[in-house]
Amino acid sequence: MENHSLLSLTVALLGFLSPCLTRLNPRVSFPMGSPGRHLTRFSSHDVSNTTTLLLSEDGDMLYVGARDAVLALDVSHKDVIILRSKLDWSPSEKDLEQCSMKGKKMADCPNFIRVLQFLNTTHIYACGTFAFSPRCTYVNSETLTMSLKPDEGRGRCPYDPFQRNSAIIVDGELYTGTVADYRGNRPVISRHLSEGRRVDLKLDDTLGWLEDPTFISSSFIPDEEKIYFFFSEVGREYDFIDKFIVSRVSQICMSDVGGQRTLQRRWTTFAKAQLLCQADNELPYNVIQDIDTLPPAEGAPADDTLFYGIFTSQWSINSGQSAVCSFRLTDIKSVFSGNYKVLNRDTLQWSTRVQEKVANPGECGLHNASDNALRFVKENFLADDSVRPVGRSLTMVSAEHNYSHLTVQRVQAANNREYTVLFLLTESGYLHKAVLLQGGTHIIEEVQVFEQPQPIKSLKLSITKGMIYVGTSEGVVRVPTANCSFYWTCPQCVLARDPFCGWDPFSRACVEASNNQTSLGQDIDRGNVEEACNSVSLTHSSRFGPNKLPAGELVSVSLNEVVRLQCPAVSRLSQQLWERPNSRLSSDLYLHLKDGSLSFVATPTTLGHYLCLSTENGYQQTMAIYHVKQKSSPMAQTPTSYTWPQTHPIPTTQAVARPGPGLYTSVGTWPKRIETIQGETEPTVSSRDTPVTTRQLGRNLTLWTEESGQKEAEVQDGEPLVLARGPCYLKELVVVSVLLLLCLSLQITMLMYVIRQRCRSRTAPQAGTPTRDSDRRTPVEQEALRGNQFLSKCNGQALHSGQMRPEVKRGHPKYQSHHGDCQWVVLFAQPMTRYKHCGLI
Ligand SMILES: *[C@@H]1O[C@H](CO)[C@@H](O)[C@H](O)[C@H]1NC(C)=O
Ligand SMILES: *[C@@H]1O[C@H](CO)[C@@H](O)[C@H](O)[C@H]1NC(C)=O
Ligand SMILES: *[C@@H]1O[C@H](CO)[C@@H](O)[C@H](O)[C@H]1NC(C)=O
Ligand SMILES: *[C@@H]1O[C@H](CO)[C@@H](O)[C@H](O)[C@H]1NC(C)=O
Repeated sequence: MENHSLLSLTVALLGFLSPCLTRLNPRVSFPMGSPGRHLTRFSSHDVSNTTTLLLSEDGDMLYVGARDAVLALDVSHKDVIILRSKLDWSPSEKDLEQCSMKGKKMADCPNFIRVLQFLNTTHIYACGTFAFSPRCTYVNSETLTMSLKPDEGRGRCPYDPFQRNSAIIVDGELYTGTVADYRGNRPVISRHLSEGRRVDLKLDDTLGWLEDPTFISSSFIPDEEKIYFFFSEVGREYDFIDKFIVSRVSQICMSDVGGQRTLQRRWTTFAKAQLLCQADNELPYNVIQDIDTLPPAEGAPADDTLFYGIFTSQWSINSGQSAVCSFRLTDIKSVFSGNYKVLNRDTLQWSTRVQEKVANPGECGLHNASDNALRFVKENFLADDSVRPVGRSLTMVSAEHNYSHLTVQRVQAANNREYTVLFLLTESGYLHKAVLLQGGTHIIEEVQVFEQPQPIKSLKLSITKGMIYVGTSEGVVRVPTANCSFYWTCPQCVLARDPFCGWDPFSRACVEASNNQTSLGQDIDRGNVEEACNSVSLTHSSRFGPNKLPAGELVSVSLNEVVRLQCPAVSRLSQQLWERPNSRLSSDLYLHLKDGSLSFVATPTTLGHYLCLSTENGYQQTMAIYHVKQKSSPMAQTPTSYTWPQTHPIPTTQAVARPGPGLYTSVGTWPKRIETIQGETEPTVSSRDTPVTTRQLGRNLTLWTEESGQKEAEVQDGEPLVLARGPCYLKELVVVSVLLLLCLSLQITMLMYVIRQRCRSRTAPQAGTPTRDSDRRTPVEQEALRGNQFLSKCNGQALHSGQMRPEVKRGHPKYQSHHGDCQWVVLFAQPMTRYKHCGLI
């Protein structure tokens, strides 16, 4: 019992942690196989690693780059995905032999298709790793046949199937970001398939224009006639931290044809800048994982194009967390048109020197410029300023979900307002649907799409068909962007706050908002049921007044039997509450279990009506009504066990699907206690055969609103029932209690300390701290801070991350390390700076 209480206390305290964590939990969860979300899957025994996806414009055909194959999947049917044709494209035995002789694992030697793009109306361009010797080919999109001899794939496709790359075809030309050699250390951004006066271009590789990058994605902005590349790389400008990773956006102009003497066959329009995903005074989320482009709303200028990216942190202190940041095209453009950093060729150090601008780096149309101008752009390609996120803040942070991929859509709601909906894929295989609201992000739901962690995966959104495709090694899964009919009542439909769904009062169903824009019950911003479901709730409350109870579900029990009434949570954001008409639920007699069910011993006083109420977002509804009656015939002893039918319309939140371990423990302790009270023979009740007496009310669920009055406080799950009335072990109890108390206070003290530390690191630091910090600095330090300059009095050594300890106590998060007499401190402020103490530390 002691252990048990300790455990529950710890759990309670951990729960107490929640206010300081950004808790972003999906409102409802659909585990694999859940009837509320019908997934269509394509997989086949002779197809694997289906991870590169390309969707036809009409959304009827999905092309898939797999292992040794390109597939054409017909996705125009409602319930099935049909394999239309398959192109086999694998390396020869000899190629494979050579690959493995070069020391590569045989499993990585097949041809993994990593580039799949429409070339023109009749052909697809495909590239694969082809036994670590990449190749490309033209594929007829109708017949899926190879039409020409394969091309050399160097610079177009990675050698290593686990290396990330980006590729996009615009106007018949292929723009790629990938490594162009076998060992993976010659990264390049290049253009291929250019014809006539237009020549293939690449980066000038003498200058280190890229520093060990991981390419994420690229995006074509028609109005700018530019391609933007997104990647992460080592931030050499921060040479004071070893291997500090920064996220970048870079650009090139489509009109580029290279210079005439200087920069021949090289980009003259390449420029890069840092993308910052960092809240004030927090450690940066510095590693970009994925990014998607949200085109401007209809009628808005191209400058309003947004890029939504997922970022994680390089440091273990933030591991398992991810953040979403959005960037506006205008901001990217203004950073590229600003000043550029200068690289000192001798010391290889970057500086911000105000210099005369001979040319504007990143400007289109420089191919005809003077050698002098081209030399200038060749050396000035790193923008001085960083691109800050929209609103200078993070769009969302998730402490518990490690997001890897996202796709974004603008959805018009019933009120004609537009909402941004993000689909985020977690590493653990769930697809989250989140809507961005003024007050923060609301995660509408999560759908499980794969079971095993996947090294390579991809996400494709078909806006026209309202479908998401997830490509993994397990196959291709299709998920509808919404299933409004899952919400079977108006309050559920409104509480979901799903811009795709609204309540149609005429058909009395939750329908797709696009089908019917008029008079739909919907409130995305506030989820106010009273207003959105006005007419509906009125009819219900007039049907059942609080004094006119409907009969409810009949539950027949024998006396002294343990009864458990179930009331599954409709959503993870709801709170369950049990009530009896005209009677209190004394904690002496009733046990409220964590899954929302109510457990008690059937006695004459506990017979009667029970209501389960659910409160969410200030709205209360009755979820279940039970009438517990004594069995008429004592012969009919077999307890009737109802379980939830598999197809019940009440959503199974995961909390319901997987009851916590504490649940059965507490039920298991019942029989002994009952013995104490009753002094009778031990009832044959165990955790296994506890009669689970319940049934759903289904679609005709009674709904009425009530003013939430003074309700019984809920008994925490696992809290010991104080039932003992007869002989009691008072002395023992006191001794144990005192010991327990001591133990507990120690634990609490420790926990509180941890919590305080964690809270500090998460909540925005107190205003004024930085000022105090700067007051304390010596003039030398302030100098160093002001100039963002490395002030080297000791040996000028770079800080090595291995020796550094992240510290996020007050003010700016910082890293510290010791070198001889000196202590280096890196402040993750904006701009990032460092200073040092020498001598006395
Ligand atoms: C939507 O939900 C309803 C109710 O749970 C279910 O019957 C139906 O199959 C679901 N449809 C899809 C496409 O998931
Ligand atoms: C290919 O799929 C297998 C599982 O089927 C997986 O183990 C392997 O890592 C995948 N390889 C790539 C390059 O995706
Ligand atoms: C598309 O490109 C392929 C390969 O270059 C070419 O054979 C074909 O004629 C092109 N189709 C059209 C419609 O231009
Ligand atoms: C480059 O400049 C020369 C003259 O300076 C001009 O004749 C030529 O048309 C220009 N070429 C382009 C591509 O603008």
